[in-house]
Amino acid sequence: HEEFTKVKNIATIELGRYEIETWYFSPFPPEYNDCLKLYFCEFCLNFMKRKEQLQRHMRKCDLKHPPGDEIYRSGTLSMFEVDGKKNKVYGQNLCYLAKLFLDHKTLYYDVDLFLFYVLCECDDRGCHMVGYFSKEKHSEESYNLACILTLPPYQRKGYGKFLIAFSYELSKKEGKVGTPERPLSDLGLLSYRGYWTRVLLDILKKHKGNISIKFVSDITIPLAAMHLFNQLLELSDMTAIKAEDILTTLQSLELIQYRKGQHVICADPKVLDRHLKAAGRGGLEVDVSKLIWTPYK
Ligand code: COA
Ligand code: NA
Repeated sequence: HEEFTKVKNIATIELGRYEIETWYFSPFPPEYNDCLKLYFCEFCLNFMKRKEQLQRHMRKCDLKHPPGDEIYRSGTLSMFEVDGKKNKVYGQNLCYLAKLFLDHKTLYYDVDLFLFYVLCECDDRGCHMVGYFSKEKHSEESYNLACILTLPPYQRKGYGKFLIAFSYELSKKEGKVGTPERPLSDLGLLSYRGYWTRVLLDILKKHKGNISIKFVSDITIPLAAMHLFNQLLELSDMTAIKAEDILTTLQSLELIQYRKGQHVICADPKVLDRHLKAAGRGGLEVDVSKLIWTPYK
């Protein structure tokens, strides 16, 4: 992967009311190679070399929000679903922009195959992008998220966990379990670990360890793991989190224990509370009643 080793080209971007320092190389078209700074239209994400060009553009660009369907609105937060096939240029611009903050993602995706979920803070001037995630329209590997980004000025405020939670709410509506595409960046993994821990431990706390057991008859697994296996499936059902991700999360917290010949999930309230505290803040809540969406067909 050639672009991994390339040196950062664009050092800063202007986007809405922010000037943002970039983190990584992004493969903008060659005519932008000599630019240190790029000026983005915060609505259509077209980018320009000079401030005057952007000012001229802003006078005629009539977008005030991402080009797509608003599928969620709660207070000043809105989520827009943008189809990469219907809005190819927007999708490509978003990928160029995102790559400036993503280390190891290949950019040569066919944007046609993706949906982009763009989160905005809205006011009387328009809907200002805070971050986004992309999702394959059809994933063989049950990925429910390809790339995720919170723009640097908005980071560490809970938007990342909101985007992650949103991706699982979509999976629930699809009646599927999902998992993020790998590899995850360090910050991506931290955010997911935090989200998974909070969601799973909240459930274990409420159920006081008594997740009821469904019998799975068509899979042969060692008897000592049967109980655990069923618990993982049940947690997966409730959360749309893939069972493997549940297992690694609980293992990393040392909550999977071997007792009386059985692997079990430890649900000692004191232990759970300690882990919950360490998992950080819950992030912004997704109010599912405000999500108006039907799965892509
Ligand atoms: N240092 C330490 N921990 C951090 C961190 C940082 N700079 N950024 C995030 N975390 C951890 C924290 O545990 C945080 O929870 P807390 O604030 O309650 O402690 C948790 O991740 C998520 O924080 P949140 O505010 O919900 O996320 P965010 O809006 O900052 O977005 C990313 C998280 C990953 C989307 C954001 O860092 C990002 O866009 N990074 C660049 C792109 C990227 O790496 N994407 C993932 C590719 S797979
Ligand atoms: Na962060």
